[in-house]
Amino acid sequence: MLLDHAQHFEQLTSLLATNAHYWRCQPFKATPAWASAESPLTQAVYSLTDDTVHAAQASDNALLNALQSCLPEQCDSVRRLCELPNFQPAEAIQAPAHIPGRKWQQITHFGAALQHCDGPLLEWCAGKAHLGRWLNRHYNCSVTALECETALVAQGNELARAASRTEHRQQLPALHVQHCDVLTGNNRRYLSKVNHAVALHACGGLHRKLLTDATTQRIERLSYSPCCYHKYLDDTYEPMSRAGLETDLRLSLTEVRGAVRQSTTAGNAERARHRKLQSWRLGFDALQREVRGMNEYLPTPPVSSTVLQGSFRDFCEWMAKHKQISTGGKIDFDAFEATGQTRYGQVARQELLRELFRRPLELWLVLDEVLFLEENGYRCDLGTFCEPDITPRNLFINATAGLSDRLL
Ligand SMILES: C[S@@+](CC[C@H](N)C(=O)[O-])C[C@H]1O[C@@H](n2cnc3c(N)ncnc32)[C@H](O)[C@@H]1O
Repeated sequence: MLLDHAQHFEQLTSLLATNAHYWRCQPFKATPAWASAESPLTQAVYSLTDDTVHAAQASDNALLNALQSCLPEQCDSVRRLCELPNFQPAEAIQAPAHIPGRKWQQITHFGAALQHCDGPLLEWCAGKAHLGRWLNRHYNCSVTALECETALVAQGNELARAASRTEHRQQLPALHVQHCDVLTGNNRRYLSKVNHAVALHACGGLHRKLLTDATTQRIERLSYSPCCYHKYLDDTYEPMSRAGLETDLRLSLTEVRGAVRQSTTAGNAERARHRKLQSWRLGFDALQREVRGMNEYLPTPPVSSTVLQGSFRDFCEWMAKHKQISTGGKIDFDAFEATGQTRYGQVARQELLRELFRRPLELWLVLDEVLFLEENGYRCDLGTFCEPDITPRNLFINATAGLSDRLL
């Protein structure tokens, strides 16, 4: 049964609230309360093989398969609530030489998901306006692209001029990249002149600003794909919709950041380095708790690769010096190194349960935005515009002004 956005949001709120102990914890810093040694859940999760863990870290589907027998009810709910319509084009579109393949695929998939564009169009936080140029050509509409980095503005305009010198380009409507900090009122002079605004991966506060300003100006259509929900916000995260404000679910910025925690797609060498570093950090963590006589996590500084080339003991002495901890007494470094390795395996498995709720959390954040748009009289479609291997930030929202099904 297809849920409307309000019901969908409500069910996600309930899923997240009921399972908060799995996703609000930070296993690297402290063993989660659910992970007591005797519990059948802990034993089931700890018995997952390394290969299963690696696969689950790289893909949401593999993650659900890995945890299905450990948390069947939650996995079924996550599957059901994270299933979305797919706005992806049927055919892949070839990349030109000057744009990286993945970025080009994002642009063409996003562009195709729009289906039509009447223009004049505004591209929000455009970078070099690769998307704007594609839309200008594909939908034959004029484009104003806004970007705050002067160098990107210049390069975007140069690319637009170069494109217009090539065959047929002269007949196309205008494309200009304008220098503008969209977080200021300066965006108004551009926003007020367009029918349709698009934004591909404008981070957190940047796309939220588009939503508030475009709804205030009653822009006819908004299409965007959000990312990095925690960026460009004030110190706290506030839901945008009335429905969001009415829930009891309050998120810290760290939790909001959790919605985009990247899956590990690293190769073998990178993975081995990560494993060594993290297990050494965990080994040092066990050591510092004992030496200081305090059972609490101590944040440690970033480490250069030189520090990792030495022994575990060298690593601990380097860390101890930074944190002004004495390693003068009798310390069994081998035992702490072994503890770190065991903890690493456990933490990686505990993290999977946290990860299970990453996509529901991301969808919750986006549905809050969708409800905000609906509360402001827009009709919204929410789906995906590409597969997650092109970009894991693949949610796509298309909003059209006019009374939504919900009452204003
Ligand atoms: C993640 S990039 C996305 C760029 C482009 N939409 C794309 O998908 O390739 C975000 C862009 O927003 C720009 N940006 C950041 N803050 C901005 C602001 N206050 N006003 C306008 N642009 C901003 C950055 O310089 C960057 O080019």
